[in-house]
Amino acid sequence: MSTPAQLPFEQTNVLRLAPGLRTLQAQGAVHRVRTAEGDEAWLVTGHAWVRQLLDDDRLSRSHPDPKAAQKDSGSALLAGLLGGFATDHARLRALLEPHFSPERMLALRPYVEKLTGQLLDALAGQKPPVDLREALALPLPIQVMCEWLGVPQEDKDRFGGWTQDAAGVGDPARSKQGLGELFGYCRRLVADKRRNPGDDVISRICATEGIEDDEVLGLTALLLFGGFETTVARIGTCVSLLLADREQWQALLHDPGLVPGAVEETLRMSMPNPHNGGMLRYALTDFEVDGVTIRAGDRLLLNIIAANHDERVFADPGRVDVTRDTAGSLVFGYGAYECVGAMLARMQLQVVLTQLVARLPTLRLAVGVEELGLRHNTLIGGLIQLPVTW
Ligand code: HEM
Repeated sequence: MSTPAQLPFEQTNVLRLAPGLRTLQAQGAVHRVRTAEGDEAWLVTGHAWVRQLLDDDRLSRSHPDPKAAQKDSGSALLAGLLGGFATDHARLRALLEPHFSPERMLALRPYVEKLTGQLLDALAGQKPPVDLREALALPLPIQVMCEWLGVPQEDKDRFGGWTQDAAGVGDPARSKQGLGELFGYCRRLVADKRRNPGDDVISRICATEGIEDDEVLGLTALLLFGGFETTVARIGTCVSLLLADREQWQALLHDPGLVPGAVEETLRMSMPNPHNGGMLRYALTDFEVDGVTIRAGDRLLLNIIAANHDERVFADPGRVDVTRDTAGSLVFGYGAYECVGAMLARMQLQVVLTQLVARLPTLRLAVGVEELGLRHNTLIGGLIQLPVTW
C-alpha cells in the first residue's frame, strides 16, 4: 500500500480547494491519510460517498474505545459529545427541532437585524481598515445564541472563551478544560432555568415532561458548541468569497434578492479548516468504500469541502456563482444527523449580507487574498483576520 498522504494539504489561497486535495479527489473517492495529530485515517472525497457515509449505520460518531478517546485529539472530544447525543439521538433531536421552526426563526430575526445594525454602526465608525471578524463575525453569533438559549448577556464572553478552548486542537488538556467549564456553567444555568423559567430555549426544553437535568445539559452544551464557532467561521469565509469576486458582489448590489442564493453558494465553497480533514467517524464493522476495505475501528474523515467541489455535481466548482443551483451541497451534512441549526445559521448569514450590501456597497478586502490565513489551532477554524476597507 502507498504511503499515506499527510494532512493538512498546503493551501496558498484560503478561498480555493487545496491543490493536493483536488489531486487526491481526481484519483478516487477514498484515500489513506495521516492526520495532523499523527493518526491514520481514511479520507473520503467523492460527493456520492461522503453523502452516503454521513448517514450510515456502519459508522459511529463516538470512539469505540472511550479510554483511547481520552488520549485523542480535541476533535475526538467533540465526537464524544456528539456520541452521547447519538445514544438516544432520535428522541433528543425531536426535542430540538421545534426550536428551529420557521416561526421561531422569524421571531428571532428582528433581534439579529438590530444587533447586526449596531455592530455595523460601530464598524463604520472606525477608521478603515477594520477586521470584520473581530467587529462582526465573532460577536454576532455569541450574542444571538445567548438571546435564543436564554444565557444572560453578561456571561457571553465567558462561554465564548470556553467553547473556543474546547474546540482547540493540538492541546487536549485545554480542550478538556474548556469542555469541563462549559458543562459546569450549563449545569448552573439549567438549575436556574428550572427555578426561574423564561421565554427561551433552555426553559422550554426544561419544561419537556420527564426530561432529566443531564439531558438538558447535554443538549445545551451541544447547541452552544454547534452554533457558535461554526457560524463565526462561515460569516468570515462567506463574506470574503464575495468580496474577492467583484462581479458577484456587484450582482448582489444590483439585486439584493440574490442574497439567499449567495449564502448557499458561499457556504458550499467555504472551507474554514483544511487542517481537520473532515467529519470524523469510526467504522463499526468491516465494509468496502469504492473498492477499498475499511476495518472495524478505522477512522474516516468525510470531507464535505471536497464533496462540495466535486465536478460531477457542481460544474466549475471553484467559481463563485450566486445564481447557481446548490442542491446537493453537503455544508450542513446529510440525513439523520444533518445540522439542526441550519436555519439559524442561514438566517444570520442572510442578515449579514443584506446589511453589508445595503450599508457598505464599496466594501472590499483591505489585503490580497493570498494574505488571508486560516486558524489551524481550532476544530472549526475560520479566518485569522478579515481586514476590510470601504
Ligand atoms: C454555518 C454554520 C453551521 C455549519 C456549517 C454547520 C454544520 C453542521 C454539520 C456538517 C453537521 C453534521 C454533523 C455530522 O454529520 O456529524 C451539523 C450538526 C449539528 N449542528 Fe450545525 N452547523 C452550523 C451551525 C449550527 C448552529 C447555528 C447550530 C445550533 C444553534 C448547530 C447545531 C448543530 C447540532 C446540534 C448538530 C447535531 C445534529 C444531529 O446530530 O442530529 N449548527 N452541523
